[in-house]
Amino acid sequence: MKNTIFLLTFFIASFLGPVSAFSAKPVKTYNESLRPQYHFTPEINWMNDPNGLVFYKGEYHLFYQYNPFGNEWGYMHWGHAVSTDLVHWEQLPIALFPDNDSKDKEIGTAFSGSGMVDENNVTGLQKGKEKTILLFYTSQKCGQRLAYSNDKGRTWIKYEKNPIIHFDETDDARDPKVIWHEASKQFVMVLYRKPNNDDKQKGISFYTSKNLIDWQFKSHLVGFFECPDLVELPVNHRSDDKKWVLFNGDGSYLIGTFNGEKFTAESVKMLSDYGANYYAAQTWSNIPETDGRTIQIAWMKGGEYPKMPFKGQMTFPCEISLKKFTEGIRLVRQPIKEISLLHEKGEVYENRNLIPGIKKNPTHGVKNDCMHIIGNFKLKTVDKFGFVLRLDKKNNGTELMYDVKTKVLSCLGSSAIVEPVDGKIKLEILLDRSSVEIFANDGKVVMSSCFVPNENGDGLYLFNIGGELMVEKLEVYPMKAIWTKEKEK
Ligand code: FRU
Repeated sequence: MKNTIFLLTFFIASFLGPVSAFSAKPVKTYNESLRPQYHFTPEINWMNDPNGLVFYKGEYHLFYQYNPFGNEWGYMHWGHAVSTDLVHWEQLPIALFPDNDSKDKEIGTAFSGSGMVDENNVTGLQKGKEKTILLFYTSQKCGQRLAYSNDKGRTWIKYEKNPIIHFDETDDARDPKVIWHEASKQFVMVLYRKPNNDDKQKGISFYTSKNLIDWQFKSHLVGFFECPDLVELPVNHRSDDKKWVLFNGDGSYLIGTFNGEKFTAESVKMLSDYGANYYAAQTWSNIPETDGRTIQIAWMKGGEYPKMPFKGQMTFPCEISLKKFTEGIRLVRQPIKEISLLHEKGEVYENRNLIPGIKKNPTHGVKNDCMHIIGNFKLKTVDKFGFVLRLDKKNNGTELMYDVKTKVLSCLGSSAIVEPVDGKIKLEILLDRSSVEIFANDGKVVMSSCFVPNENGDGLYLFNIGGELMVEKLEVYPMKAIWTKEKEK
């Protein structure tokens, strides 16, 4: 009898909503145990690459690779969300459906691409007073295509003379990213290609156009795979010293010059992220000059979310720029300043000298599964220090550690060398329910990782081993959820 009642409760609860593994109570959407609270996720189903990132009239548009039918890759559509602050997102209906009503898992589906506002109506597609928003996408095995909106991105029309670049079955062309190149006064498309189906020729092709519809091939650079992006960034914030950065799908990048047709590298390819889950990064188009930032977001590829109704999360949006170091120019990436909109009242610790074994855990009492942690540490005589995240009473949790001798920062199986600056290390950590992003030394080294945390712990433990560590300043902010409206549903 008891069993029957249990089964009945379970059965009814499954109709009411997702059921947690530990109770028969329905868990509210956007409050599930592994649901990121301030990183973007679709309400249900599979998500991969960010697509079509564009700003228009106060709204940041975020499109994404989306399978509306399940929690695995395939049947790609473009999901859509908008935000006025890049932090709180409103989900909108699906923007792009597969072409020709395709029901195939791949052929004709809407693969990755980019967005742009047609400021001067060079396409001639503007109807009323709203400027046209363009989406360039790959219709898988059907060429590069264009879709547009005349109503601030609320409805989307496929361009009637598609494709704008024809499909070639001896190639594997995809993921068009379109930018305006001011110096040569033309539009440039970077497109991943594999000419002659030859793995050795995998790379990025550069095309140019005056009207965003007719494209001419100009050059090809080998050694790249999927989801390219091309941005011009100031070095040390100087508008008279700029370099071009060419991104690969895995987030690695080249620094160089670009004359509108050809990219000339001035660096070797470098990693922009040392974690296991940074992929298909893309930057927003049409951010006003008064803002001036270059803002990038990526898909946290490979994340696992057991028993969750969704699969995939985005990184937190970041500002990217270039900085000169003694070893050369490097990309730096830092969370956008709007992150502070999500801070709950935090704790600030200053000038605490930690002696091993004496002051055990200065962050004792700090409890939360979502935090923004910013710490400046003077290394003194310490051998190793770090944090245990999601700590429980049995001292289990996820370790993030810096080893002073080897200069290695490690977390969740990933590691990177971080050089101290004047004997100090700065760590900024974004902890969410299923991700940890670490920005070391103001974004010079970044490590983005997904994780399935210790379910029973929400403590934070700052530890030091082998010697003294001076905590010059440590700020710990519990984070507000961005999904309050969704949780009320
Ligand atoms: C990268 C990628 C892209 C492609 C899309 C399909 O993750 O393979 O090259 O357009 O995903 O979902």
